[in-house]
Amino acid sequence: MPTVVLTGIGLLATQSAEYGDLRDAALVIEGARIAWVGPVGSAPAADEQVDLGGRCVLPGFVDSHAHLVFAGDRAAEFSARMTGAPYTAGGIRTTVMATRAAGDELLTTRVAALTSEMQAAGITTYEIKSGYGLTVRDEARSLQVAGQFTSETTFLGAHVVAPEYAHAPAEYVDLVCGDMLTACAPYARWIDVFCEEGAFDADAGRAILLAGARAGLGARVHANQLRPGPGVQLACEMGAASADHCTHLSTADIDALAGADTVATLLPGAEFSTRSDYPDARRLLDAGVTVALATDCNPGSSYTTSMAFCIALAVREMGMSPTEAVHAATVGGAMALRRNDVGSVTPGARADLIALDAPSPIHLAYRPGVPLVSGVWKDGRGLRALSTVD
Ligand code: NIG
Ligand code: FE
Repeated sequence: MPTVVLTGIGLLATQSAEYGDLRDAALVIEGARIAWVGPVGSAPAADEQVDLGGRCVLPGFVDSHAHLVFAGDRAAEFSARMTGAPYTAGGIRTTVMATRAAGDELLTTRVAALTSEMQAAGITTYEIKSGYGLTVRDEARSLQVAGQFTSETTFLGAHVVAPEYAHAPAEYVDLVCGDMLTACAPYARWIDVFCEEGAFDADAGRAILLAGARAGLGARVHANQLRPGPGVQLACEMGAASADHCTHLSTADIDALAGADTVATLLPGAEFSTRSDYPDARRLLDAGVTVALATDCNPGSSYTTSMAFCIALAVREMGMSPTEAVHAATVGGAMALRRNDVGSVTPGARADLIALDAPSPIHLAYRPGVPLVSGVWKDGRGLRALSTVD
């Protein structure tokens, strides 16, 4: 297999406890995997050498929560919110109507554009949810589109009750657990439910996650986003890989997360774009909870593909140190997807890497809004050329 050695790495922030931060480092890529990391002076020879000119290297970001299959735009809703209108789960139905009306080709083109944005800015693994179709046909085709871009596909038929079932929500839950799940399970790895007032309560959420488990899907939960509620407890009870949002938590919720194998995935783009209070990451970290950061990219509550922006918000608004935030955006995301082949730069891991035009990952928060990602490798292939290396 062809080998490439990356030299001139000013700082290699491996995100691994074993390797830590290495100064004046090198690494060897063999095919799609990392074969070696260490000091540049001991780097083995390789077929090709790329000098990174002192740049900082870290693992590609792992975005464990994104809603990318949709049509339409809700800029007017955003604008109204910024002048005082509240965010409600009801806005999701606007996107549902636009998505149902869009052909597969348009949906695919839109996902391609968003994933290109993500990759250019350093996200090398991303999850994609359905959830804007809410019919058997539209949920299944949303997942088929998502599957063209990632293996981390999530069935979110339980995003909100479909408008046609507004007066018979129990029937909609039966549809999600029945025909819709049957049509969607072949294209999904995960099942998710929005457990919130105005969406699904704990009993409906439990039924949906149990049906998903019977179909072989792992659980994830949109939990405690808009107010306190049962979502986090449900996620922990069901052994979900992740409880996402975690904005309004009680002490019992934090204790449950600390005692479970469920990652708390924080999505500060949503609080930014809904002008809401941010989750308290410090409280979670101090309790020993594993925290992930993700974009929540969607047209309603968080229309960003920038993990660097989320890192900056987590540091400025949520009590995370820059180091903790970068860890949450890499290893944390990997744990939220139950993956150990991404999120850190260690021998055997996938060669998913980013190079920053900066001396350390701290600059991701220290220089907010600045596009510092200058090189991206996915499975060992350079996706984005280094802009200024000669
Ligand atoms: O994660 N909370 C539910 N779903 C999305 C918002 C979707 C929308 O407003 O379109 C979220 O924030
Ligand atoms: Fe979401």
